[in-house]
Amino acid sequence: MNTLGYFNIEVFGCQMNEHDAEVLRGMLSQMGYEETSSEEEADVLLLNTCAVREKAEHKVLAKIGMLKELKEKKPNMVIGICGCMVQQQWMADKIKRDFHHIDLVFGTHNLHYFPHLFRQVVEEGKRVFDVWESESGIVEELPKQRTSGIKAWVVITYGCNNFCSYCIVPYVRGRERSRKIEDIEKEVLDLASKGFKEVTLLGQNVDSYGKDMGLKGGFTQLLKRLDEIDGIERIRFMTSHPRDFDEELIEFISKSKRVCEHIHLPIQAGSNNILKKMNRGYTKEEYMELIERIREYIPHVSVTTDIMVGFPGESEEDFNDTLDVVKKVRFDNAYTFVYSKRKGTPAAEMEDQVDEKVKKERIQKLISEQQQISLEINKEMMGKTFEILVEGTSKNDSSVFTGRTRTNKIVHFRPNNTDNKDLEDNNEALDSEKLVGNLVNVKITEAKSYTIFGSLQDGLLGGN
Ligand code: 5AD
Ligand code: SF4
Repeated sequence: MNTLGYFNIEVFGCQMNEHDAEVLRGMLSQMGYEETSSEEEADVLLLNTCAVREKAEHKVLAKIGMLKELKEKKPNMVIGICGCMVQQQWMADKIKRDFHHIDLVFGTHNLHYFPHLFRQVVEEGKRVFDVWESESGIVEELPKQRTSGIKAWVVITYGCNNFCSYCIVPYVRGRERSRKIEDIEKEVLDLASKGFKEVTLLGQNVDSYGKDMGLKGGFTQLLKRLDEIDGIERIRFMTSHPRDFDEELIEFISKSKRVCEHIHLPIQAGSNNILKKMNRGYTKEEYMELIERIREYIPHVSVTTDIMVGFPGESEEDFNDTLDVVKKVRFDNAYTFVYSKRKGTPAAEMEDQVDEKVKKERIQKLISEQQQISLEINKEMMGKTFEILVEGTSKNDSSVFTGRTRTNKIVHFRPNNTDNKDLEDNNEALDSEKLVGNLVNVKITEAKSYTIFGSLQDGLLGGN
């Protein structure tokens, strides 16, 4: 194969970063490079970084330090750092100053400029550090090399206007900008024509989609349009903000064909005092009422959340309010975080930063409470049959298949561990290529807090 060389991209952080990496892969492929999973083999090595918590930044800095040796062995290798962490100008400056083996740094706002910057490094042999201070408009038609042929991320909004007081995102991703409905629709139609079965609409605050373009109820309008696209079996979205999740949206999801019954709705904290200091724009009571409404309209919905402990000034009583909401709402799952001070955000300047030991104790308590609830909810699935979109086989055991329910629960099953004798005899139907990317019925036989097992019930439900 005629290749200019190999590239390797390591991604830290959220789905938005994963999506950006797909664009970087697309651009590198267009330039004639091929992907490799080996850092040693790579001629171009990129780290797409995250800035949401300090830990993620420490990981990247440690990694950068370790790459010095590789660069000494392979001086022509281009090492680049991009993403949220280096969108902070002070961090880009620090890397330029302290790590001379780094050739290229660019931010989130000039990702589309990567080929140009890369050529400067390769052709002129100089170090290039270029971080744009503010966001540009939306650049459509960038190439993308997606990692799956079944599920795709589709960005609907960039940036965030919320300025939650702990969060770095509005500073590193800029103001909220929505893509045009027509552009999103075109992308989803194209994915459907290529055989993709699921799309996840991405944005920091998807349910405020269109506000910047003067649309009212823009997200519901968008979902209505996408719900009509044949071939796409499932539509997911993340992340939503409780303040923008209106009744019209809930009603539409309950009636829609393809929008899945899973809502990820970060609560962050259960204490009204803390929610106010976080600038979240809702109270504990309002949040709980919203969940009640969602459950009224969509009876089998699964609800997941993000929760943070140790926000500045969080007292034992505040933390107990968080535990109380967790017990009352009974989330299917919760992503739990220890508050991390982010330079430049209002919360970093607040007094009463919580002691690290107290934060650790609180997160342990929170995790164990949630684990118990997740276990109880998952156990209720036992003996019931669910529609699973098969995504592939398990990393450790290729005879185990993995997929998700519409409610976003990961289910593992062995095709030969079926209740259906005819199916067991029909090797053809169990052909892995036939299962992956298709909908099947799986009956749940075992459920733990994080893992669920089942047995295949019958042949394929749909797709091709
Ligand atoms: N410290 C800890 N967690 C944070 N998150 C955002 N900013 C911080 C921070 N400074 C969490 C929030 C958000 C999730 C993606 O990361 O819970 O929903
Ligand atoms: Fe950060 Fe809040 Fe925006 Fe989410 S909604 S990205 S937590 S500022």
